[in-house]
Amino acid sequence: MRENSAMSVTPAVENRVSLRPYNSFGLPALAERLVRVRSEDDVRRVLATPALARRPKFVLGGGSNIVLTTDLRAVVLKVEVAGKRVVSRDENAAVVEAGAGESWHGLVEWTLEQGLPGLENLALIPGSVGASPVQNIGAYGVELQDRFESLDAVDLETGTSLTLDAPACRFGYRDSVFKHRGPDGLAGRCLITRVRFRLPQPPRAVLGYLDIERKIAETGITHPTPRQVFDWVCAIRRAKLPDPAVIGNAGSFFKNPVVTPEQCRDIIARDPAIVHYPLGDGTFKLAAGWLIDACGWRGKSIGQAGVYEKQALVLVNRGQAIGGEIVTLACAIQESVYGRFGIRLEPEPVLL
Ligand code: EPU
Repeated sequence: MRENSAMSVTPAVENRVSLRPYNSFGLPALAERLVRVRSEDDVRRVLATPALARRPKFVLGGGSNIVLTTDLRAVVLKVEVAGKRVVSRDENAAVVEAGAGESWHGLVEWTLEQGLPGLENLALIPGSVGASPVQNIGAYGVELQDRFESLDAVDLETGTSLTLDAPACRFGYRDSVFKHRGPDGLAGRCLITRVRFRLPQPPRAVLGYLDIERKIAETGITHPTPRQVFDWVCAIRRAKLPDPAVIGNAGSFFKNPVVTPEQCRDIIARDPAIVHYPLGDGTFKLAAGWLIDACGWRGKSIGQAGVYEKQALVLVNRGQAIGGEIVTLACAIQESVYGRFGIRLEPEPVLL
C-alpha cells in the first residue's frame, strides 16, 4: 500500500523528448527530461522528488516565444493546466479565469461565446494563457495589462502558492516581473498556473489602431460588434503574419524601440518617412519592422532562417532551420539597423 501511494505521487518523467512540436518556430531540440504539469500539486510533486528537485527547471508554455539553439538539460515543466470559467459578473465587470495551459486564442473565442467581450483585439496571438502576462501581450490598441485581474503561480523553490495582482506583475511594454532575473525578478522562479482577466461591462470597443480604422473606412461599419472586431483582427493578422502551424515563427522578433525626442528628431531628419508614435511622455516608439525593411531585409534569408515577405519584424523558419541560423540572422539584422540608425534592436523571444 505504502509503495503504491508513494509511486502514485512520483511525477511521470519523459526522457529525450523532441521539442519540435512544442515551439512555434519548429526548431529541433530535445528535452532531456520533461514533466507535464496539470495542477499546482504536480509542481509540488516534482519538487518533492529529489532527482528532479535539485536540477534547474525550465517552464515551457505554448513555445511561441522561444528560440531553441540547444538541447535542454533543465527539467522541462510543460504547463498543461486546463479549464476556463466565469468567476464573477456584475454591472462593472466580469472576471474570467483560465488555466495557464489553455490556448490564448481559444480563450478569446470562448469569452465572446459567453457574451463577455474585451479580449477581441488580442485574437490569434499564438501561445498559451500562462505566457500572456509574461510578455504582456498586446495588439491593435489593447495590452494584456488593460484586462488583467490577477494570477496564481507556484514558487519553484519552495512549492508555495502565490497570487499576484497587476502592480506585483510590474507590466511594461512586452515586459513583466517574470522576464527579470535577480532579487527583484521572478524569471525562472515560479510557474504560472491560472490567470484571471477583468472584462469591463458594458464593453467598450477599442478602434483607434490604424489597421482597424482602415477596416471601418472600408466597410462603413462605424459601430462594429465585438465579433466584428474579432473577425477584422483575424483578417488583418492573417494578411500579414504567418500562421505558425504552416511557417515556423515567433511573431514579432524584436521589440519596437523607444527613443528620446532628440534621437527621434535626428532620425526623422535623415529618414522623413520613418514610422513613429509619440508615447505621451516625450519619448517615441519607432516601428522596428520599418527600420528592418529600410535596411533591405524583407524577404531575405540566411540559410534556412528568413525575414517574412509581408512583415519584416517577423523571422521565419524556411523549413529546416536550426536555432543558430535564426540567431545569426537576428544578429545580422541588429548590426545593420545599428549601423544605419544607431539603434540597438532588442529581441522579444527568449534565446536558449
Ligand atoms: N512596417 C514596414 N515594413 C515592414 C513591417 C512594418 O514599413 O516590413 C511598418 C508598417 O507599415 C506600419 C508599422 O511599420 O506602419 C507598424 O507595423 P504594424 O502595424 O504591423 O505593427 P508592428 O509595430 O510591426 C506591433 C506588435 C505586434 C502587433 C501589432 C499590431 C511589437 C513588437 N509588435 O507590430 O505584436 O500584432 O503591433 O498591434 O510590438 C508580437 O508581439 O509578436 C506581435 C505580432
